[in-house]
Amino acid sequence: MNIAVITGASSGIGKEFARQMDEGLRRVEEFWLIARRKDQLEELAGKLSHRARVLPLDLTLREDVKRFHLLLQKEKPQIRLLVNCSGYGIMGNFAGLELEEQTGMIDLNCRALTEMTYLCIPYMKRKSRIIQLASSAAFLPQPGFAVYAASKSYVLSLSRALSEELAGRGIRVTAVCPGPVRTPFFDRAERDGTTLAIKKYAIVEVDAVVRDALRASGRGKTVCVYSPAIRAFHLLCKVFPHGWLLAVVGKIKAKES
Ligand SMILES: NC(=O)c1ccc[n+]([C@@H]2O[C@H](COP(=O)([O-])OP(=O)(O)OC[C@H]3O[C@@H](n4cnc5c(N)ncnc54)[C@H](OP(=O)(O)O)[C@@H]3O)[C@@H](O)[C@H]2O)c1
Repeated sequence: MNIAVITGASSGIGKEFARQMDEGLRRVEEFWLIARRKDQLEELAGKLSHRARVLPLDLTLREDVKRFHLLLQKEKPQIRLLVNCSGYGIMGNFAGLELEEQTGMIDLNCRALTEMTYLCIPYMKRKSRIIQLASSAAFLPQPGFAVYAASKSYVLSLSRALSEELAGRGIRVTAVCPGPVRTPFFDRAERDGTTLAIKKYAIVEVDAVVRDALRASGRGKTVCVYSPAIRAFHLLCKVFPHGWLLAVVGKIKAKES
């Protein structure tokens, strides 16, 4: 059985991946939709033309990841596409935020993504694809969003390395690095802090980001950066010393506050 696995399918970017893949992926017979909120997953499953399996899992829990592993061992599917979208961010100063919420970002954004990738690879063959949701936050450390940005640097680094490692097996890995995308992500992210006002000008719509990501993955691109503003930011982060850029960001923040 050919399947596609999508984590974070109950909301935002993951949900939009399911919608667009439903229109485009003909060779996939079943979607496996993963997140904690079963009702949201069931609602989405009901709207898809593909058969969909709802897997309400909390990927920060060892026993839930184990349940997924056991299901793979039982069903032995061919995973054509894995899309890792589960993730969250909390803005605010490092020392002022709850420790558990900060380590939770590492658990979900890094550890769970790593586990899901590791567990899925044995069920992938040539032309299978992995899409990892990193972020433009991966390009530069972010005071006020420190753990999140560090977690996304991890995702970008891991994905680029795996892209090389898995090339010989014909498995393509794409790290998707959007700037701000209009999704419920910010409801939680901005509870204790706010993003730079300048970033709000760069906010983009989720359907465009996902369409670009699927195109990039189809073409075998290792890194996908959507929108001219974020591509310019990416270039700046490659060209200028990060200490200098951080000083500029600090000045913009001081002006805004
Ligand atoms: N929106 C942006 O501006 C933006 C920009 C760059 C990158 N990203 C990245 O894109 C990804 C998707 O974000 P989004 O914008 O779509 O945010 P979102 O709408 O808040 O979606 C986050 C998803 O993660 C799932 N999730 C949260 N905790 C989970 C857990 N413990 N176990 C399993 N799933 C869990 C949520 O489902 P449940 O609550 O049902 O579990 C939800 O489906 C994230 O990795 C985010 O860092 C977002």
